[in-house]
Formats: sequence, C-alpha cells, structure tokens
Amino acid sequence: MWIFGYGSIIWKPGFVFVERHPGFIRGWSRRFYQGSLDHRGVPGRPGRVVTLIEQPQAVCWGMLFRIEGSEAERVLGELDQREQGGYERFVEPVFDHREVALAEALVYVATPANPHYLGAASEAEIARQVLEAVGPSGPNLEYVLELGRALRAAEFDDPHVFAVEAHILALLAGDTTP
Ligand code: SIN
Repeated sequence: MWIFGYGSIIWKPGFVFVERHPGFIRGWSRRFYQGSLDHRGVPGRPGRVVTLIEQPQAVCWGMLFRIEGSEAERVLGELDQREQGGYERFVEPVFDHREVALAEALVYVATPANPHYLGAASEAEIARQVLEAVGPSGPNLEYVLELGRALRAAEFDDPHVFAVEAHILALLAGDTTP
C-alpha cells in the first residue's frame, strides 16, 4: 500500500514504512484552508492545517510511503482515525523529479464540502489564527514550523507555506505590520 503525505504525514508519519520517496502529485496545491478542532485547535477556536485545493496547472510535492501489505489494514485504520476531522481518501498517481510515475497512492484531502473547511484567507490572517490556536495534539504553531522545516529539508518549494511561516515569525518577533 502506498500513502502520499503532504502535511503532518511528512514530518510525523506515525506508522512503520518500508520505503519513502520524495514525489509530487498533479492538479493540487497545498493550502492552510482546513480547520482543525481535534488536533491543532478546539471548537470555537479552530486551528488551521493543510489540505489540497484543486488547481489544474499546479503540482504538490510531498512524501510517498510504502507500507507492508500485512500492516496495511492497521495503518489505514489509524490514519482514518487521525484524519477524521474532514479528510477523505483520494487515489492519485505520484511522480518523481524526472516525472516518472512511482505509484498510485492514497492521499487524505479535506474538500470544501466538509464542515470544518475554513477556506481562503490572507497569509497574514492565517498566521494570526495559527498563533491563537492550541489543540489536543499541541500548538498550531508547532504544526506550521514543523511543516516548514520538513519542506525545506526535502528541498520542496511552497510559497504559501513559507509566507505563513514568515508572518508567524514576524509576529513572534513583535512586528505587527500586516
Ligand atoms: C497529510 O499530511 O498528508 C494530510 C494532512 C495532515 O494530516 O496534515
């Protein structure tokens, strides 16, 4: 079984895998548009976590994991539980840097149809919301900083994630200009 992760699954897979490869999927962009009431926020003060939005010309880089067949059912049960706050499983072809197809992988996407979807906001606004949110899995800030760190470590560019991160760091440094 193959899983493609583009958010917390990159930096905190939480399952045992036998292979991991950088790769990308086509037609999707990573955005902090999903509300989190169960991990990085609470009802009334949701955090913001990443989902994918459909964008025909876009690509989204992430990590492709292969899971042993004997582990598949258990891992899927755990991931379904972890991603239950609005995410659905999609199947997408994943490509490597030479555009060679690596695998058809499961991807968890929170579509605009789910009740916790927050949708677009400016990156400055997203940063402010992130700084105010804490949930059972920890501060929303940690989610953003860990994702930024993991994307940089893998040499994946993502102007949206890096802009949110930069606004957060500016706010933490006391800069209140929008
Ligand atoms: C993912 O990481 O692939 C899904 C979104 C998340 O759990 O952060």
